[in-house]
Amino acid sequence: MSNNLLDGKRGIITGALDESSIAWQVALKAKEQGATFILSNAPIAMRMGKINELADHCNAEIIAADATSLEDIQKLYEESSDKLGGKIDFLLHSIGMSPNVRKKKDYGDLNYDWALKTYDVSALSFHKMMQVGEKLDIFNEWGSIVGLSYIAAQRSYPDYSDMAQAKALLESIARSYGQRLGELKKVRVNTVSQSPTMTTAGKGVPGFDVFLDYANMLSPLGNATSEECADYVITLFSDLTRKVTMQNLFHDGGFSTTGISQAIIDKIS
Ligand SMILES: NC(=O)c1ccc[n+]([C@@H]2O[C@H](COP(=O)([O-])OP(=O)(O)OC[C@H]3O[C@@H](n4cnc5c(N)ncnc54)[C@H](O)[C@@H]3O)[C@@H](O)[C@H]2O)c1
Repeated sequence: MSNNLLDGKRGIITGALDESSIAWQVALKAKEQGATFILSNAPIAMRMGKINELADHCNAEIIAADATSLEDIQKLYEESSDKLGGKIDFLLHSIGMSPNVRKKKDYGDLNYDWALKTYDVSALSFHKMMQVGEKLDIFNEWGSIVGLSYIAAQRSYPDYSDMAQAKALLESIARSYGQRLGELKKVRVNTVSQSPTMTTAGKGVPGFDVFLDYANMLSPLGNATSEECADYVITLFSDLTRKVTMQNLFHDGGFSTTGISQAIIDKIS
């Protein structure tokens, strides 16, 4: 259902790989709500994923950019503002990758070069996208920037490995850059801490299906799906949330504040 919440707004959506991607669902909803946007992903994802299908459906152009490369980000912004006809009102950072998780390295045997890569791809890229954007003055006043996080930033999940530190860094960057961009441009910056969701990135975490079932049993409202996450992100891009900034917003069916549930008690008893 469209309420034209993003009518006239222009944006950039990163991280849509296939239908399971959270960013894919955000793109579908942004289109439905009247936005025009550019889709971006890492050059390698152009070959692996199905982003062309999404671009056709959304009547959106694709610009490849490695989110760790300042040059790529600059090119992404310059080409986006040309194609969209102006500055941008919203940006979705939906990017995460850990070589240690991918290669199943134990947390007690972490490869530190890979850990630096994890932090660069999954967290520093958020800073880079804001810093380059600020320098190019790409963000419209009252714009909105959202990154996607996970509760491993606050609690330990052994198999989430160095991604836990990456998410803590991502959330911290949202606060620090949120203050800066708020003062400079009235732009808000938030992270959405989403329930475990069956996506390509999610499936890469060992024991992910157990995470997912456990979270679902504990959450009073059950796990939030990627479609529901997209609905929430759309409200954050809309003018209905103009004074929400520098927050880590849990979108998790109540998981983050639940101690124990009857479903878990029944399972263990
Ligand atoms: N799936 C979950 O359970 C879950 C839960 C909470 C938060 N998140 C977060 O949501 C975000 C999106 O992940 P997803 O679950 O939709 O999985 P996904 O695998 O569909 O998306 C991750 C994206 O990151 C992109 N990417 C990786 N390296 C990149 C680089 N160098 N430059 C640009 N793009 C790059 C990938 O190509 C991919 O499109 C991530 O930040 C993830 O950590 C996921």
